[in-house]
Amino acid sequence: MFVALERLINLEEGYRRTFQVGGRSVLLLVLDNQPLLFEDSCPHQGAPLSAGTLSGNVLRCMRHGIEFQLPSGRALQSSCPGLNRLKLVYDGDRIGVDV
Ligand code: FES
Repeated sequence: MFVALERLINLEEGYRRTFQVGGRSVLLLVLDNQPLLFEDSCPHQGAPLSAGTLSGNVLRCMRHGIEFQLPSGRALQSSCPGLNRLKLVYDGDRIGVDV
């Protein structure tokens, strides 16, 4: 089932917003004109990534400072797993997810 998150016309560079989908929080952002969707939970200890800082294509978790390279979501330090990137689906003038 398609769940719409946002209208395409609203997706500008720098866009960042969280949504609740199927009981979990997800983070939709636009980087280099590419919409990206991640589970809004740091793979280290679960801090909300939406509270992190984005510098270039590096997202830094606010809790312990682990950095993740976007769009891959790969952790730049230690053995921390990468971000859980979710598949985006397009339907007409909207973007969302299949649940
Ligand atoms: S919870 Fe994100 S770096 Fe620790």
